[in-house]
Amino acid sequence: MIKTYFIKTLIIYSILIFQLKQIVAQKNYDVDILSAQFHSDRRQALRNIMEENSVAFIISNPERNRSNDVDFQFHQDPDFFYLTGCIEPNSVLLIFKNEILIDGFETNEIIFVQPRDNRSEKWTGKRIGTDGATKTLGIKTAFNNFQFHELAIDFSKYSKIYHPVFYNDYRDNEEDPGDLYSLVKSFNEKTIKYSEKKKSTYFQQMMASLREIKTTEELNLLKKAIQITCNSHLDLMKSLKPDMTEYKAQALIEFGFKFNGSEYVGYPSIVGNAENSCVLHYITNRRKFENNSLLVVDAGAEYHGYTADVTRTLPVNGKFSPEQKSIYDLVLKAQEAGIEACKNGNNFRDPHNAAVEVIKKGLMELKIINQPNEYLNYFFHGTSHYLGLDVHDAGTYGKLKANSVITVEPGIYIAADSPCDKKWWDIGVRIEDDILITENNPVNLSGNLVRKTEEIEKIMLEKK
Ligand code: GLY
Ligand code: MN
Ligand code: MN
Repeated sequence: MIKTYFIKTLIIYSILIFQLKQIVAQKNYDVDILSAQFHSDRRQALRNIMEENSVAFIISNPERNRSNDVDFQFHQDPDFFYLTGCIEPNSVLLIFKNEILIDGFETNEIIFVQPRDNRSEKWTGKRIGTDGATKTLGIKTAFNNFQFHELAIDFSKYSKIYHPVFYNDYRDNEEDPGDLYSLVKSFNEKTIKYSEKKKSTYFQQMMASLREIKTTEELNLLKKAIQITCNSHLDLMKSLKPDMTEYKAQALIEFGFKFNGSEYVGYPSIVGNAENSCVLHYITNRRKFENNSLLVVDAGAEYHGYTADVTRTLPVNGKFSPEQKSIYDLVLKAQEAGIEACKNGNNFRDPHNAAVEVIKKGLMELKIINQPNEYLNYFFHGTSHYLGLDVHDAGTYGKLKANSVITVEPGIYIAADSPCDKKWWDIGVRIEDDILITENNPVNLSGNLVRKTEEIEKIMLEKK
């Protein structure tokens, strides 16, 4: 009797503790910035796949000049951000597979950050400094960046020295021994004798395999970016007028992004009208709308580092012409076939192949092409890419795996002078959604944004 009571109590307690853990875990996921623990876990995940007795050297993005003494707004390198949470330039991270001894202390990670500096901070804002790097970012060991030169690390004893691809556009500020140019130069000098151990491709492959699979925290941020993006696309549909310009439409959608909490656009917005709807990555966005034409709007908000990537194609006067609708419906059908193929274990190219089959057949039926392979004149890009910290995110491009997110974005672009009836000219249509791969069916994370022609026409009547 007592024994049964004891077992029952134990079971009830176990269930309660399990539920409590779930609630606590859920709470953590609600926090919508990545925690120091997240980045620490990602460093450990990298360490787990590094070769025994190896080291990785990872750097922040270079600052890039816009003109004269004005730079483009700085954006952190996604690998560096993923592993540190640090958003400052001129920084270096070393990750060691095994513990090493530095200044009498054991560590397996060292970050080098910009030194605190009263004068610079008055111009460009507060720096995290070594204190912040250990206390806020939670990285075990931190030094000022200029100390990298003196740090006694014997690179000869490592089996592999992983590093990213180095760009050639670092600026050498000779007064600053902590600028990225001198940090990379110093790394190359220290490791020049061990070039056979230096592996940038291995580093890229390791990061691709990690970044491809999103954690719950990452998916939460991605979903938020996508939700903000869809809401802004919807608002644009309601606000669009036939006498606008591409840049006014761009302003409307980007206003929605920022107003709803996203810090940046995830990539320059593509807002192409009439003939520009046929230009894949058109970002000039200067044209006045042409009567009865289409507008391709490919725009995504970046939210706390993660970017959405959503495209809708709209008739500027609110009503698709019969030709525009035929092409639109064909792209939509191709997209649906592509999304259907987004299954765990399928090949990365399967969604593309499914979309191509639909487009080939449809273009033949519309007599826009005479031979199936002529489809390449009108659909000349891939259908999918990974999505995450980068719009074209890191990933292995092998089999599709659960908890990765890919786009499905077929398009048909019939530029003027194409070898078909001119009634089709200047019709460019792309439809792009962000698809979560799961153990079961694909989930369209941007699926709540209207896609069918009738739905779009109806929404466009709801003028703001
Ligand atoms: N926004 C660029 C792309 O769709 O790949
Ligand atoms: Mn895309
Ligand atoms: Mn896009």
